[in-house]
Amino acid sequence: MSKKTLAIIKPDAVKKNYTGQIITNISEAGFKIKAMKMVKLTTNSAEGFYEVHRERGFFRDLIEYMTSGPCIPIALEKENAVDEFRKLIGATDPAKAEKGTIRKLFAVNIQENAIHGSDSDDNAEKEISHFFSRNELLENYNG
Ligand code: CMP
Repeated sequence: MSKKTLAIIKPDAVKKNYTGQIITNISEAGFKIKAMKMVKLTTNSAEGFYEVHRERGFFRDLIEYMTSGPCIPIALEKENAVDEFRKLIGATDPAKAEKGTIRKLFAVNIQENAIHGSDSDDNAEKEISHFFSRNELLENYNG
C-alpha cells in the first residue's frame, strides 16, 4: 500500500478563503505535507489531468471550473493515504458526503466540490508528477 496521495484545493474553496481551514483539517487528520504550490491551471494542463473524464458530459464544464482561478495541489503522505484521504474528504457530491468531511463542510455542489483526492495508488503517482518535479519532492526535507 502506497503512503502517497494528491490533494487539490479547488478554485471555489481558494476563492472563498477556505484554504487555511482545509489545510488544518488535513494536518489534524495526520497527513504530512510533502510539497505544495498555488497554480492557475491552463486549459491544456487541466485537460491532461482529467483525461479519463474526457468523454463525460461534464468534461467541458469541469475544465472551465478548474481553470477559473488558482488552485492548490498538495502532495500528502500517510499510511494507506489514498483510502484515508478519501474518507476525510467524503463523497464527490457534498449532498451525499458524511458529516464532518471536508466536502460536507466546504463544497458547493458535485462539480464545485472544494477538494480532489487521488482514487488509486497508481493515479496518486501520476497526479503527483503532473504537478511536482522529482526535485521539488526531494527538496522537501520535512521528514
Ligand atoms: P474529482 O472526483 O476530484 O474529479 C473529477 C471531478 O469532476 C469531480 O471531482 C467533480 O469536480 C467533477 N464531477 C464529477 N462528477 C460530476 C458530475 N456528475 N457533474 C459535474 N461535475 C462532476
